[in-house]
Amino acid sequence: MPWIATVLLLLLPATLISRPANGASQRTFEIDYEHNCFRKDGEPFRYISGSIHYSRVPRFYWKDRLLKMKMAGLDAIQTYVPWNFHEPKPGIYQFTGDQDIEAFLRLANELGLLVVLRAGPYICAEWEMGGLPAWLLQKQSIVLRSSDPDYLAAVNQWMGVFLPKIKPLLYENGGPVITVQAENEYGSYFKCDYNYLRHLRTLFRFHLGERAVLFTTDGNGDQYLRCGSIQGFYATVDFGPGSNVTASFITQRHSEPKGPLVNSEFYTGWLDHWGEHHSVVSTQAIVQSLNEILAHGASVNMYMFIGGTNFGYWNGANTPYAPQPTSYDYDAPLSEAGDLTSKYFAIREVIRKFKAIPEGPIPPTTPKYAYGRVALKKTCTVVEALDTLCEVGPVKSIYPLTFDQVSQYFGFMLYRTTLPKNCSEPTPLNSLLNGVHDRAYVSVNGVPQGVLERNKYFTINITGKAGDKVDLLVESMGRVNFGRYNNDFKGLLANMTLGHNDEILTNWTIYPLNIDSAVIHGLIPQSMVGTPSNYSLPAFYEGSFTIPSGIPALPQDTFIKFPGWTKGQIWINGFNLGRYWPARGPQVTLYVPVHILKTSAPNNITVLELENVSMCDQGKYFVEFVDTPILNATSGPTIRNSKPFSTEGQWEDL
Ligand SMILES: *[C@@H]1O[C@H](CO)[C@@H](O)[C@H](O)[C@H]1NC(C)=O
Ligand SMILES: *[C@@H]1O[C@H](CO)[C@@H](O)[C@H](O)[C@H]1NC(C)=O
Ligand SMILES: *[C@@H]1O[C@H](CO)[C@@H](O)[C@H](O)[C@H]1NC(C)=O
Ligand SMILES: *[C@@H]1O[C@H](CO)[C@@H](O)[C@H](O)[C@H]1NC(C)=O
Ligand SMILES: *[C@@H]1O[C@H](CO)[C@@H](O)[C@H](O)[C@H]1NC(C)=O
Ligand SMILES: *[C@@H]1O[C@H](CO)[C@@H](O)[C@H](O)[C@H]1NC(C)=O
Ligand SMILES: *[C@@H]1O[C@H](CO)[C@@H](O)[C@H](O)[C@H]1NC(C)=O
Ligand SMILES: *[C@@H]1O[C@H](CO)[C@@H](O)[C@H](O)[C@H]1NC(C)=O
Ligand SMILES: *[C@@H]1O[C@H](CO)[C@@H](O)[C@H](O)[C@H]1NC(C)=O
Repeated sequence: MPWIATVLLLLLPATLISRPANGASQRTFEIDYEHNCFRKDGEPFRYISGSIHYSRVPRFYWKDRLLKMKMAGLDAIQTYVPWNFHEPKPGIYQFTGDQDIEAFLRLANELGLLVVLRAGPYICAEWEMGGLPAWLLQKQSIVLRSSDPDYLAAVNQWMGVFLPKIKPLLYENGGPVITVQAENEYGSYFKCDYNYLRHLRTLFRFHLGERAVLFTTDGNGDQYLRCGSIQGFYATVDFGPGSNVTASFITQRHSEPKGPLVNSEFYTGWLDHWGEHHSVVSTQAIVQSLNEILAHGASVNMYMFIGGTNFGYWNGANTPYAPQPTSYDYDAPLSEAGDLTSKYFAIREVIRKFKAIPEGPIPPTTPKYAYGRVALKKTCTVVEALDTLCEVGPVKSIYPLTFDQVSQYFGFMLYRTTLPKNCSEPTPLNSLLNGVHDRAYVSVNGVPQGVLERNKYFTINITGKAGDKVDLLVESMGRVNFGRYNNDFKGLLANMTLGHNDEILTNWTIYPLNIDSAVIHGLIPQSMVGTPSNYSLPAFYEGSFTIPSGIPALPQDTFIKFPGWTKGQIWINGFNLGRYWPARGPQVTLYVPVHILKTSAPNNITVLELENVSMCDQGKYFVEFVDTPILNATSGPTIRNSKPFSTEGQWEDL
């Protein structure tokens, strides 16, 4: 596209002029304690940065989003590194495609953006388990984010692979990375383990060298900085537009009497949870507070500048258990789909008051296309496809095992046992200890019975005869990303009991399911003749659509809507777009990025509906592609209002 070339021509000379070719050794980035600032190549420097998580934006769109950030006047971007995105199983590493963090950092460098890298091991981020791999839970008693030797061994191993990739990308070595964060808001965690922080300090220094600027981030209260900061990591704070800027920086000064003022997370919006209202933060509040922060001479990172998407199973959850939806739009200045918003332009105007911003065209909002309705047909139930979905074969156990005990980290498992007695009258099936993590779709001999849900529905009535098959399809809705209950085991964590005497159900056959693999390889059987009922069995529905020919601008991005559907998971051409749950909201449509669509063949849609779906006209199920997202429906009951303007640190455990 010509405007990219234009932008690059305009930007590159500036970069070259500011840095005459004196050799790479001249590049320095450091903290000047005496003058309360950063120094870049010896000159006083403060950064204006924005968060973009490469794990939430398809690689296809990295350049578009980064250029838009550059054109807003940002000096830097900030990103989190989710460990579990890169090490799905112990010792198995993924660094290609959407996981190619080095390519992402090099791209930022080419575009003249510096990088504030939040390397983990823990990141929070409303990301599955705060970025920690679920396989850490194979040691049941593990104390995450502490000096537990097994935790530290895993951290050492991972950082030994990851940090050496970052070293050549440090600013002093010619790369874009100016600062590196270890841990995240540690002062909000229940452990106050300075030995752990010391361990991280030694580890990061070992891999990144003595000169790298290392930092920590905590809430803007002394109680957070007390356990979150340690000498050798520069302490920074985070706060949103509702906070008193002066008071927040005074708090940072309690930990860092000298050095640059830094707000590492200035909230441009806020996160959502299923069943709550969509969070919106006014542009006026952002403008006012950002203006004040910049007038203090502080460095600031806007969290988020673009939120992006929790594709697949990557969303996290807060406690009391409240999972985040698929969209991580965040009401940020760039929308989930990368659209320019009025907030974007307002922020750009604030920045313009403090520094020159790049001239030239801003990459435009990408067009969206409403492909319309696509009919789907029911192909088979999960139970019918069990042999295909359970590649590893079932595990037998007298009492239930968790996902983690059978090395299943995401998605779904089916738990099967038999009714020990006749239940001709409605008989309670109980999860007394709130042991269903997180949702179970229950059937007896193929007859749907209802849903159990963590913290919400502990008992349902079932009917059946002795010897009937009892199936619980259990869904992980995302692991807790914040607070003490980060070690969030999935599946059935406690015994299920039957009847008023709480007879423990035993002799389970447990099927770990790899649904993604079956969908990608087109293995979902085509056997089912659907029978509608109020609760249907969890089942697959498939259909396809063709990109209209004769419209040269196609394909384009789109949004998918689920009229009549309740809750489930959706794939297009094998790409797992995420969870849909319009019955609870607030998110109603899912973002469909163009790069997964094909013009050469029909595009295949696979829907796993977990509860029920009503047919529309002509006895068909359908989904609908629209050109406008809906993230703010309030059809679902409000479980709890989100708290805009609080720091992440204020999500306390209950
Ligand atoms: C903000 O905090 C400062 C320092 O504590 C205080 O002097 C000022 O009154 C506060 N401003 C408001 C509006 O509360
Ligand atoms: C269950 O009910 C059937 C009749 O519906 C009866 O034949 C059977 O003996 C009963 N079984 C038990 C364990 O009570
Ligand atoms: C189960 O059935 C009993 C008796 O029919 C009823 O009182 C109770 O409310 C039902 N429980 C649930 C959870 O539906
Ligand atoms: C189930 O109950 C048995 C017997 O009381 C107990 O030994 C076992 O630990 C329980 N299992 C779980 C997962 O709670
Ligand atoms: C569970 O299985 C064991 C071994 O196969 C058997 O002895 C026992 O009777 C079974 N228990 C139930 C409740 O079916
Ligand atoms: C669905 O629910 C309605 C109302 O409870 C009931 O009348 C109807 O029989 C149910 N349909 C099926 C197929 O279970
Ligand atoms: C799904 O089942 C519930 C409970 O029977 C019913 O209230 C709801 O209308 C059904 N939804 C659809 C989409 O059929
Ligand atoms: C969709 O599935 C059909 C039938 O399996 C296949 O021929 C086609 O290539 C698939 N489309 C894409 C985009 O993979
Ligand atoms: C949802 O957002 C749209 C677009 O900003 C707005 O027009 C609409 O009024 C909002 N709806 C609700 C229920 O807040």
